[in-house]
Amino acid sequence: MRFVWLGLVLILAACSKVDNTKAIENGGYTYDENCAACHDRPPAYLHTVPPSLKGLFASKKLTPQQVRQIISEGINTMPSFGTTIKGKDLDELMLFLETQ
Ligand code: HEC
Repeated sequence: MRFVWLGLVLILAACSKVDNTKAIENGGYTYDENCAACHDRPPAYLHTVPPSLKGLFASKKLTPQQVRQIISEGINTMPSFGTTIKGKDLDELMLFLETQ
């Protein structure tokens, strides 16, 4: 009986992992559509070259809370995305950024 429970727990753990993969993939689409144009291929007309977001979370330069705020409110020449990227979309984008 104990093994049945263990199996169940493992299956549930595996499922939640699959869900996360999908969420990160969705976040990646949001990133490609809204962020990559500046952060991966900075256009020449921008006064401030957008920093690469690779390793952003590993560097611990900004807290997740600060990153959410920058996305929602913008910062200097970066526009705000508060009306378009929110709720689940913002959560998934954050998950994606954490993998970068
Ligand atoms: C129009 C170009 C543009 C777009 C689109 C854009 N950004 Fe930015 N972003 C910038 C610029 C420029 C800065 C630097 C602002 C400054 O500090 O002067 C910046 C800064 C940031 C920072 C702070 C990074 C650091 O190291 O300080 C984060 C995080 C960020 N952007 C995330 C995003 C995300 C996520 C998206 C997509 C939802 C996005 N940006 C879309 C131009 C852009």
